[in-house]
Amino acid sequence: MIKTRFTELVGVEHPIVQGGMQWVGRAELVSAVANAGALGFITALTQPTPEDLTREIARCRTMTDKPFGVNLTILPAIKPPPYAEYRQAIIESGIKIVETAGNKPQEHVTEFKKHGIKIVHKCTSVRHALSAERMGVDAISIDGFECAGHPGEDDTPGLILIPTAADKVKIPMIASGGFGDGRGLVAALALGAEGINMGTRFMATRESPIHQLIKERIVANDERETELIFRTMRNTSRVARNAISTKVVAMEKEGAKFEDIRELVSGARGRRVYEEGDPDLGVWSVGLVQGLIHDIPTVEQLVSRIVAEAERVIEQRLARLAQLAGTA
Ligand SMILES: Cc1cc2nc3c(=O)[nH]c(=O)nc-3n(C[C@H](O)[C@H](O)[C@H](O)COP(=O)(O)O)c2cc1C
Repeated sequence: MIKTRFTELVGVEHPIVQGGMQWVGRAELVSAVANAGALGFITALTQPTPEDLTREIARCRTMTDKPFGVNLTILPAIKPPPYAEYRQAIIESGIKIVETAGNKPQEHVTEFKKHGIKIVHKCTSVRHALSAERMGVDAISIDGFECAGHPGEDDTPGLILIPTAADKVKIPMIASGGFGDGRGLVAALALGAEGINMGTRFMATRESPIHQLIKERIVANDERETELIFRTMRNTSRVARNAISTKVVAMEKEGAKFEDIRELVSGARGRRVYEEGDPDLGVWSVGLVQGLIHDIPTVEQLVSRIVAEAERVIEQRLARLAQLAGTA
């Protein structure tokens, strides 16, 4: 058992979190994560309407009686989704933990707090972590440049971002981006975090509701097979390297504007990747950690393996090294 300020705060057994994932963070995966003693987040905007989100939360409750949360991602959009209505659905469903991500969460933080909901805010820089702390969130999830999805524009990898944030953030903080095994968990704890958040690793599990061929692609890919799209628009996103993402990067280099690539990068195409199992149909998020993913275990096997490996690294390898140092 690894207990930290974060496990105490959110009331789960293991310091392991499954962050929000568009099209992936559904009841099947989130309930499996909860049943394994970790913390999973349903992704609000994967549900077409706030009413669908209410139904998805209820469906998840039929699959687990352990705590789980909801992710609310606030990203720049031409036609923003009805955030306040999604927020209301979360509150009215009696959810007690929310993961916020993206721009200017204050309004949501204020409302969630009024209802006693704990907020884990995910961000990619120390300054945003500190501003979220000032806003009153309960914990920070700090996402390094290795991560799938939006790594921000500072390009600071976890090895620097986690300890620099840990030096300044006072509330519990978990480390995100590039984690997939017990060695990573120990490293995060050593760098000053109180747990880990994972996306990509949870995609390649039995309960993850995406096509088997995409899970197998993640296993086959190594750490070099991602692309950073939307760099020229300062809205960088790390996605799998494929026919579409390489084309988008090439078009951006030639000065393409969002309008020119809009159809190629559409969410609808990305969704078809997961449904039809063809990795070249659209852009889909994946992180560098795919280089460390070699199998498709159940969520329970994955979580217990990470914890057991972390304990082994601490009790055997690190303890032995420290002893050797002591007797040298
Ligand atoms: C397929 C996929 C979709 C994601 N969608 C979201 C999202 O909608 N909102 C969000 O806050 N983070 C999203 N993320 C980011 C994850 O929550 C997490 O921060 C990230 O995956 C951590 O990096 P890792 O993949 O190296 O573990 C997504 C990640 C993946 C892999």
